Amino acid sequence: MIQENATILWNTRLNSDCFGIGIDCRKGYSDARPGQFVSLYLSDRFDPLLRRPFSIHRLIIENNRVAGIELLYKVIGKCTKRLSDLRPGEGVNILGPLGNWFTINDKARRIVMIAGGIGVAPMVFLARFLRDHRPDSSQISLFLGGRSKEDLLCIDDFLTLGIRTETSTDDGSAGHKGLVTDLFEKTAAAEQPDLICACGPVPMLKSVARIAERKKIPCQISIETLMACGIGVCLGCATRQKGIPEKYLHACIDGPVFDTGLIGLIG
Ligand SMILES: Cc1cc2nc3c(=O)[nH]c(=O)nc-3n(C[C@H](O)[C@H](O)[C@H](O)COP(=O)(O)OP(=O)(O)OC[C@H]3O[C@@H](n4cnc5c(N)ncnc54)[C@H](O)[C@@H]3O)c2cc1C
Ligand code: FES
Repeated sequence: MIQENATILWNTRLNSDCFGIGIDCRKGYSDARPGQFVSLYLSDRFDPLLRRPFSIHRLIIENNRVAGIELLYKVIGKCTKRLSDLRPGEGVNILGPLGNWFTINDKARRIVMIAGGIGVAPMVFLARFLRDHRPDSSQISLFLGGRSKEDLLCIDDFLTLGIRTETSTDDGSAGHKGLVTDLFEKTAAAEQPDLICACGPVPMLKSVARIAERKKIPCQISIETLMACGIGVCLGCATRQKGIPEKYLHACIDGPVFDTGLIGLIG
């Protein structure tokens, strides 16, 4: 884990409220794994005071070396609004890589990724990692859901990687009309996966967890809790452990990726 003042390489609008930001941080990310995150502090600006967590979306590779990382973010409040105003050449304080990652058993062949909205951010990194470490990426698929067509980000990245990609939108403007979990459940009835990896809003994750439990499919989800320190000190990211009263796990150090059997989702 390294903390540094890094330079912004690009900060590009992707749709009405989502951006991709490239950050020039050369040290410490060569062993980063899909699911890990970084914590950003907007240097020289003391409001907002606390750092904010963002999943690693992609490693920027130059001359076969990691030259930085890209994040994908959605503007929802103070920090993300400030972030969206930053320009290439300006600075950001970055701490990372943090947390655990999706752990893929060698025996898992049919792997399904399920992402909702900005939850697609860590999935491009995961898809690329699987493509590089698996002989047969044709067994890997993605189910991507959004409110409407403009929320479906990164589709071309998955297609370029040879990942079978199914989409859904709430309003029917692209792909299946309805919930991404309904779309997945229909497909899983015909072809049960060996592992599900998911990231997205809590209601989606709850639904994914229910399907996985019912069908007895191992399932890992990346959860988004509120986080202050990102390193296990403030206890602000406590998450209830399933089946053990008063026992808590901490999303920043025990997670953010958890087996769905391990935690109780709230919200
Ligand atoms: C491990 C991890 C990885 C993440 N990765 C990404 C990512 O790749 N891209 C991305 O866009 N976002 C990601 N997030 C969420 C991101 O951290 C928040 O969107 C960001 O902190 C919001 O900061 P803000 O100051 O703009 O909003 P704030 O002003 O802090 O919050 C605005 C509103 O959103 C609510 N809120 C803030 N953060 C969260 C949260 N984590 N979960 C639920 N509600 C929240 C607040 O309670 C408030 O109502 C991640 C969160 C975690 C824990
Ligand atoms: S964010 Fe502080 S303990 Fe997890």
